[in-house]
Amino acid sequence: MAFVVVRQKGFTVQCVVTVQPDLVSRQMVKFVAGLSRESIIDVQGLVSVPSVPIKGTTQQVEVQVRKLHCISKAMPTLPINIEDAARSEKEIEEALQAGEQLVRVNQDTRLNYRVLDMRTPANQGIFHIQHEVGSLFRKFLQSEGFEEIHTPKLIAGTSEGGSAVFKLDYKGQPACLAQSPQLHKQMAICGDKERVFEVGPVFRAEDSYTHRHLCEFVGLDVEMEIKKHYSEVMDIVDRLFVTMFDHLNEKCKKELDAVRRQYPFEPLKYLRKTLRLRFEEGVQMLKEAGVEVDPYGDLNTESEKKLGQLVLEKYGTEFYILHRYPLAVRPFYTMPCYDDAKYSNSFDVFIRGEEIISGAQRVHVPELLEERAKACGIDVNTITTYIDSFRYGAPPHGGFGVGLERVVMLFCGLNNIRKTSLFPRDPLRLAP
Ligand code: 4AD
Repeated sequence: MAFVVVRQKGFTVQCVVTVQPDLVSRQMVKFVAGLSRESIIDVQGLVSVPSVPIKGTTQQVEVQVRKLHCISKAMPTLPINIEDAARSEKEIEEALQAGEQLVRVNQDTRLNYRVLDMRTPANQGIFHIQHEVGSLFRKFLQSEGFEEIHTPKLIAGTSEGGSAVFKLDYKGQPACLAQSPQLHKQMAICGDKERVFEVGPVFRAEDSYTHRHLCEFVGLDVEMEIKKHYSEVMDIVDRLFVTMFDHLNEKCKKELDAVRRQYPFEPLKYLRKTLRLRFEEGVQMLKEAGVEVDPYGDLNTESEKKLGQLVLEKYGTEFYILHRYPLAVRPFYTMPCYDDAKYSNSFDVFIRGEEIISGAQRVHVPELLEERAKACGIDVNTITTYIDSFRYGAPPHGGFGVGLERVVMLFCGLNNIRKTSLFPRDPLRLAP
């Protein structure tokens, strides 16, 4: 007799191979017993309820094997043991206390052998959820009249300013990898596209060794004409994300459970109508809680987390929009507030106290755009074609950018963005 546990997409079932005249030979049982873990097999058999319950699992069925073919043999020793890699921190502690010999799989090892690491139920869940987020983003926007565009990733100047840019040589001409589709998605609006979105790679050369920064991530970008007020852009954020969270909770129960089993987390608390808080109100809430912040500066990671807690206590939500940011901390293309130019028509969106989106109304007046670029220290010669796009008639418009990996990380309450990037790129990692 031999037993094999077969797994497909994170779910497993036990197969039993017993010698049976004319059906299963002794040789066959021997062959199965010698198969290496993680090999790919094809099995044909009868699904049955075992006479004795299967030890250590809640599974109620097993497969009585009739035929078994090995399609692809795995190496006899593997760099990661999937069962060990799938254990929660609590299970590891318990196993160690019970004197079990097990290897704690660290993050670098997981990422070095990602094709094995991906096989754990939690990772199957995470990347299925990631797929659902991307697919819902597309579906929702299409249903709202947005069209998908594709903008270049090789560009002449920086799209977000600053030093976080990968520079390269473009046939003798200085160029860089796009830090976002910002400039071109706006130019698409100037080209009368009205409502657009893009799903594509975004490159940031920042030297950030944090749990939430990558050097390459997937940007979900939106840009649209504004009829009256930048709240129209926030309306899209609101409906898009409430629809998305509802769908994930309803349709990805199995996957969320698989993630939760290894990395316990509480379901995200969000309101039917997303809370919109003015930056000034946020500053006031922090002040009342004894946290001093510059009313015209940016919030640091710590104050963002603290504000997240305060918002949860006061409004009962872990998903909210903070808007009307000080102009000084926003990119050059952000529209100043009409009533007070110290502030801007812009917003950030948070999940569990961490940013997942930044958005704004954009400057569509070329003279003001040029002035703002210069004030932000940008060489306008590198973006003349962008600024010129607004000289032929340009509608008021706005939009936002979402980091896909951050959405999945924070929705699932995970502690590191590398868990939600299939093959992460950070300052220390360019492979696999
Ligand atoms: O805040 P960011 O830099 O804004 C823009 O790129 C604007 N062009 C968006 C707009 O339309 N106004 O980036 C947008 C989002 C962030 O909120 C965050 O979720 C994610 O992209 N992000 C990163 N994700 C992973 N690693 C990084 N280094 C990230 N930088 C930003």
